[in-house]
Amino acid sequence: MEEQQQSDLIKPIEWLEGKVIILDQTRLPESVVFIETADYREVVEAIKTLRVRGAPAIGVATAYGIALGCLGISASDKQSFKSGFDEILDEFKRARPTAVNLFKAAARMEKALNIDNDIEEIKEELILEAKNIHSEENAATTKLSLLGAELIKDGFTILTHCNTGPLATAGYGTALGVIYAAKEQGKNVNVIATETRPLLQGARLTTWELMTMNIPVRLIVDSAAGSLLHNGKIDCVIVGADRIAENGDTANKIGTYSLAVLAHENNVPFYIAAPVSTIDFNIKTGKQIIVEERASEEVTTIDGKQITPTDVKALNPAFDVTPNKHITAIITDKCICKKPFKESIGGLNKT
Ligand code: MRU
Repeated sequence: MEEQQQSDLIKPIEWLEGKVIILDQTRLPESVVFIETADYREVVEAIKTLRVRGAPAIGVATAYGIALGCLGISASDKQSFKSGFDEILDEFKRARPTAVNLFKAAARMEKALNIDNDIEEIKEELILEAKNIHSEENAATTKLSLLGAELIKDGFTILTHCNTGPLATAGYGTALGVIYAAKEQGKNVNVIATETRPLLQGARLTTWELMTMNIPVRLIVDSAAGSLLHNGKIDCVIVGADRIAENGDTANKIGTYSLAVLAHENNVPFYIAAPVSTIDFNIKTGKQIIVEERASEEVTTIDGKQITPTDVKALNPAFDVTPNKHITAIITDKCICKKPFKESIGGLNKT
């Protein structure tokens, strides 16, 4: 990808002279509003409320947020500084449970804290590590997009779910990155985007991003996917991931599992696109993944307006786990992992 085009990408989160700038994704596409903050608690809040969202972008926000929090610690003795750091770390770890990028970024920031250094030096190193995490995620999503584009043929119609472009990655994108890269290779691609109830990441964000990139997109309600897959209208499905287990089981936005089963049933390839940072090498299967439960109101209201009888309680799991048997391949920045995933993914842990 050309440097010029990289700099044109939408930036959901940035570090700017001791402040964090967040593009408020809950306001898109109506308004492009940036939050500029020197308070790490606002970054925690932005992650919880999905102002910044998508696994890699959540990782980058966590790293910058921790660095920001540490800048604000006034303690001059190292023990008090470390206690302050631990409290900040814990607040980020409690923000959202499923995307492993958050926990990996937090672990890297913890490792980067070298208590033998002066406090000012420690702060500088933490900022540097957060910037490294950001640029590594950016490079990884660019790489995986180029690798994945090889799977896309000219004229393909691709079904995707949720939102996986620059907004979700603070980089090039995962599933949408693959689609962008295919387009840049001169292939004609058409995208079918699901709405992605209840928070409508597909309807609000994916259509917006694809239109910005001049890629033809049509929006469907989530429940239309089955009939399109059955009627031969889709050449492949590509989605992102929030956490991938060692055996390839993959957590992603709620509804992904249904799409995978439908794709499998209709012999349509089903691809996951994710950087290696989204693989959790500490868990053997998807059964160990914690799926976030979000507020009932996200389902019973739209734009703050109640759409159900007032007392109805909703179930609102934000993610589901797709068993590896329904996944054709996992596109990463190192290689395209094929079955058996235990071997191909296991190999990535050694590289
Ligand atoms: O709840 P969200 O919007 O953070 O969920 C995001 C997703 O599920 C994405 O598909 C996933 O993070 C892939 S990232 C590019």
